[in-house]
Amino acid sequence: MASNKKLYSFLSFLTLLISFLLQCYSGKSELQLNSYANSCPKAEEIIKQQVINLYNKHGNTAVSWVRNLFHDCIVESCDASLLLETVNGVQSEQAAQRSFGMRNFKYVSTIKKALEKECPLTVSCADIVALSARDGIVMLGGPRIEMKTGRKDSRDSYANVIDDFIPNHNDSISLVLSRFQSIGIDTEGTVALLGAHSVGRVHCVNLVHRLYPTVDPTLDPDYAKYLKGRCPSPNPDPKAVLYSRNDRETPMILDNFYYKNLLKHKGLLIVDQQLTSDPLTFPYVQRMATDNDYFHQQFSRAVLLMSENNPVIDSQGEIRKDCRFVN
Ligand code: HEM
Ligand SMILES: *[C@@H]1O[C@H](CO)[C@@H](O)[C@H](O)[C@H]1NC(C)=O
Repeated sequence: MASNKKLYSFLSFLTLLISFLLQCYSGKSELQLNSYANSCPKAEEIIKQQVINLYNKHGNTAVSWVRNLFHDCIVESCDASLLLETVNGVQSEQAAQRSFGMRNFKYVSTIKKALEKECPLTVSCADIVALSARDGIVMLGGPRIEMKTGRKDSRDSYANVIDDFIPNHNDSISLVLSRFQSIGIDTEGTVALLGAHSVGRVHCVNLVHRLYPTVDPTLDPDYAKYLKGRCPSPNPDPKAVLYSRNDRETPMILDNFYYKNLLKHKGLLIVDQQLTSDPLTFPYVQRMATDNDYFHQQFSRAVLLMSENNPVIDSQGEIRKDCRFVN
């Protein structure tokens, strides 16, 4: 018995040793909580402070950080590919149709500069995308989410494949569910993530096909009238800043009014409103509409999954000096 036990502990020691050596050998590591504890102990605090300062000056920056996380992470990986600008053969993801309306990218540079001042070339832009979303969610009255770090930045933009990952505003619910499924997010999590549309705005170009020539019958008639007032032309100039708030009750709070509005046929996008017509998603809409804590709990779980989609953690990636350009 005793020698069996010894053998057993020796073997488990050996297993540990081998896996440790393998990890060193392959140069791979995992995302970790507080991964900058030694290399840049103030990193997370600096990001949080910057997110707060920016929120106080331009409240909608917090909204942008939430959308950035979705657009960066669902396309291949959370690797700040979204932040690359069009230059020398790189085509920016920001110029894609699906990125329409995205804003505040210049303030990512503000956050990065504060980090570069404290610890040069240490904190990745991908971790800035993740942690700014985490801290932005708190500024918007959403849940606190514990997030790991250690992501590296991509050396490429994926502008040419964006449509394969990010659904369109009028795609079917089954397509939306399958896109999120492919990164490990279930139906309940997907319904919760769309609750991000509790904040921010939608431009008329993404609304008019529900208003003209005839009003979409799934849209509340009074609400349609209001939206027609916001978007008086069936062919809005995409450059004109004509839009409607996502949630008129609490436009800057990440709460369950989104789901309450859906139940009242006041969803803005077709993908939003469809959550109430599909039997797979409808029960979650009902539950989230009545229970904000449940929404927050599912939102946290799904945001975390999204933020850990396929991270670059090895020498394939880099730590960018300027989030807009590869080094
Ligand atoms: C089926 C999936 C989704 C589709 C088709 C979609 C589509 C859109 C569209 C068309 C807009 C309005 C853009 C404009 O006209 O300015 C928008 C805004 C927004 N989306 Fe999504 N979205 C999806 C999922 C998500 C997810 C998962 C999140 C985050 C967790 C998110 C966060 C946001 C935010 C915060 C805004 C407001 C941005 C602002 O006001 O600056 N979206 N989305
Ligand atoms: C969805 O909207 C786009 C414009 O944003 C349009 O070109 C396309 O035909 C629409 N698709 C469907 C299925 O209605």
